[in-house]
Amino acid sequence: MAIERTLIIVKPDGVQRGLVGQVIARFEARGLRIAGLKLMHISRELAEQHYAEHKHKPFYESTVKYITSSPVVVMVLEGPDAIAAARATLGATNPLNAQPGTIRADFGLNISRNIAHGSDKLETAEREIALYFKPEELLSYQRAGDVWLIE
Ligand code: TYD
Ligand code: MG
Repeated sequence: MAIERTLIIVKPDGVQRGLVGQVIARFEARGLRIAGLKLMHISRELAEQHYAEHKHKPFYESTVKYITSSPVVVMVLEGPDAIAAARATLGATNPLNAQPGTIRADFGLNISRNIAHGSDKLETAEREIALYFKPEELLSYQRAGDVWLIE
């Protein structure tokens, strides 16, 4: 079990539907700690870098358009196995396949409006965090309750 950092984005639909607090609350309740957080409007250039792995896929253009269509809330979450833990809390990419209790199942219906993003593996997390945050914008600290989260 390693302490990891992962990049989470509350996408335009999540912000527009007023779900930012509920999304963050689920990650916080699970024990993940906020290391960085901001509201921003993603530029076309940044979206292209973010979704570079999908460049030639049919959903690429609409996904870039959508993520740049309205402000998003971007955060870095930190904790034991944070990448896998956050992906499990997010649920499957398509909300229709996501398990009830996950963010995408509980708040979404459509794959191209799936509320939030989470890094899928360590290398992706490192790459994505560097796209959105300067090192000095990220804080490591202990919360009083952290000793109760892991053995
Ligand atoms: P992907 O990285 O495969 O999913 P995830 O967000 O779970 O890591 O795809 C990136 C985003 O692209 C996804 O969140 C929603 C969108 N997308 C579609 O609109 N249609 C699709 O068929 C797929 C696979 C993704
Ligand atoms: Mg992905």
